Amino acid sequence: MKKHNQTNLFKANSLAQIYEKEMTPYWAYDLNVIKSQIEKLKAFDVIRYAQKTNSNIHVLKLMKQNGVFVDAVSEGELFRALKAGFDNKKNPNEIVFTADVINQQTLNLVVENKIPVNAGSIDMLEQVGKVAAKHPVWIRINPGFGHGHSQKTNTGGENSKHGIWHTQLEQALNVIKKYDLTLVGIHMHIGSGVDYGHLEQVCDAMVLQVEEIVKLGFDLEAISAGGGLSIPYHIDGAEIDTEHYFKLWNNARIRIENLLKHSVSLEIEPGRFLVAQSGILVSKVHAVKLMGQNKFVLVDAGFNDLMRPSMYGSYHAISVIKNKPDGKLEWACTEGNVEDVVVAGPLCESGDVFTQHEGGVVDKRTLPIIAVNDLLVFHDAGAYGASMSSNYNSRPLIAEYAFDNDNITCIRRKQSIDSLIALEDI
Ligand code: LLP
Repeated sequence: MKKHNQTNLFKANSLAQIYEKEMTPYWAYDLNVIKSQIEKLKAFDVIRYAQKTNSNIHVLKLMKQNGVFVDAVSEGELFRALKAGFDNKKNPNEIVFTADVINQQTLNLVVENKIPVNAGSIDMLEQVGKVAAKHPVWIRINPGFGHGHSQKTNTGGENSKHGIWHTQLEQALNVIKKYDLTLVGIHMHIGSGVDYGHLEQVCDAMVLQVEEIVKLGFDLEAISAGGGLSIPYHIDGAEIDTEHYFKLWNNARIRIENLLKHSVSLEIEPGRFLVAQSGILVSKVHAVKLMGQNKFVLVDAGFNDLMRPSMYGSYHAISVIKNKPDGKLEWACTEGNVEDVVVAGPLCESGDVFTQHEGGVVDKRTLPIIAVNDLLVFHDAGAYGASMSSNYNSRPLIAEYAFDNDNITCIRRKQSIDSLIALEDI
């Protein structure tokens, strides 16, 4: 059994400091990992972080400090971006609003803060146009095909609700003209956890759309390749070849520049790629029990914390930290005795299992022998972990810690029990 490389990032005794405060479960992020992931995409003109992935304001500030711009999909995400210091009045491109629908309050906020709207429907273009002539807009095109690690994360094709259907480009441009909106760019995001065998198809689809845009007498200054870049969740998985990925998009950019007869800015909009490998979820074992042929290990984190296995059957590598009799914590040796176990959480729901396939089929994981009070660490949990958590079973949101070399900072406190009923009249 190979050791996961995150076991080198997080020292067991540092994790213990948090554990000693009786704080499991909790999230921990290594900030250096985020910085090095950003570096891998620096060939693009703009890296726009899809903050739905992990919207902690500390993470957003780190993005800003490292020259990354941001995407927002709701009033709450706009609020976070503004609080983190992104400011379109200083630089009109720092925040872009990309959503399927926009309500009046959010519309007022984008207009007031000069935030371009990446329109997901022709209706949305109408709604923006009616209140703000000349407002900058992008058009999000659904090219008619998509891919994702799960059908639930595929955002293209006719089973997807996202974007403006590719054959309706002219209608969209007519609305832009009617309200004198400013067309900034064209955007395609075909899914999350994409198989990039299909990348050339996306690039070609983008070039075709721009050909049409030019024919219809419009211009634009930017193209966005969307997000979707995957990471190796399995220990032996391959890293994405970011150089190859950039080359393909850069070729598309050159073809587009030839059509427009001027340069355009090439954007990318990753989420998972930037933050997944920075994060872990640390939980504590409360019970180990035999159920027929299955040995269940029950921890104090549930799918209300990390939803991905229950929602998509997603795989997260798991490591064990042994709680030694002398009270010291140590990453378990991966060469010793192992056993096959099902890892599950505390929720009153059978689907609260971390080792399962899509569709809910329970799976087993080979792990070092586990005892009550050991810690179980779920790897690569920095993306779509904390940001997808809920209060199900009235469990408070858990704390988030940032590891920055030797400094450990609490970047979100654990939610208090009182706050669970703060909005309800008693
Ligand atoms: N841009 C748009 C318009 C998006 O909708 C998304 C993700 C991204 C960029 C970033 O995609 P990424 O680079 O992270 O693949 N909860 C799922 C993923 C849902 C993705 C939603 N949209 C998961 O845990 O796998």
